[in-house]
Formats: sequence, structure tokens, C-alpha cells
Amino acid sequence: MTTIYDALRDSHDVQRKLADELVQTQGASEQRAEIFKQLKHELAAHATAEERYFYIPLMMHDAGIDLSRHALAEHHELDELVETLEETEMSSPTWLVYAKKLADEVHHHLKEEEHKFFQMSGKILTEQQKTALAPQYLEDFAQQKQRLAAE
Ligand SMILES: [Fe+2]
Ligand SMILES: [Fe+2]
Repeated sequence: MTTIYDALRDSHDVQRKLADELVQTQGASEQRAEIFKQLKHELAAHATAEERYFYIPLMMHDAGIDLSRHALAEHHELDELVETLEETEMSSPTWLVYAKKLADEVHHHLKEEEHKFFQMSGKILTEQQKTALAPQYLEDFAQQKQRLAAE
């Protein structure tokens, strides 16, 4: 049975792959623009659905407050870095500096979630919640992706 952890990890793997690909791109190329767009959408869709179907249920418990706040603050930081990249000339060397910072922060955030928050939340969520949240997250994630693709 798919748990919320399996569902979240699927997108994490995509994020890691896209972040690594992004820093390998050069100049204002079509490839750079395309990978950036894919990563931006993946990050945004994942963060929204993860906040709704993982962190909000955790925040209902006192023991889940601090870890959720920390994760949400990091989502916000990632958003700001994406915004900075959008405001920076893609052909400039600065763009790659920010892209590397984004990739580093993506890796840091996912590692912290997978190695720390998943374990902590495992003691807070019930077994029933761990499976029930997976399809809810996945449905919202798919909707978010669709909405972003239509923009
Ligand atoms: Fe995540
Ligand atoms: Fe996250």
C-alpha cells in the first residue's frame, strides 16, 4: 500500500534530478529555460500539496508544530530563490550562482524531510493517516501541476 512517504518521495526524486540537471545547463538556452520551468512547477505543486496533506495534519499535534514551521519556512525560501532566478537575466553568470544555491537548498530540504521529519512524523501520524493521506496528496499534486501547466 502506498503511504504518504512513498508519494512524497516520488516527487523528491524528480526534484533532485531536475535540480542536478539545471546546474549542468549553459547560458540562456532552451534547455535551461525548460528544466527551470519543470523544476519550478515540481517544487510549487509539491510544496502546496505537501503542506495541505502532510504538514497541516502534523500541525494538529503539539509535537508536530516546530518541524512543520521549519519546513514551511524552507518552502518559502525556495520560492524566493525561484523568484530571484526569474528576475535575473538567464544568460548572466549570476543566474547560475542562484541556480546552484537553489539546487543546494533543494537537496538540503529533501534530506532533512526524508531523514528527520519523516521519522518524527512517523510517531505522530496514525497508520491509517499514513495511507489515507497519500491519495489526497497525489490528487492535489496532480491538480496543482495541471494548473501551473495551463498558466
Ligand atoms: Fe517534500
Ligand atoms: Fe517540503
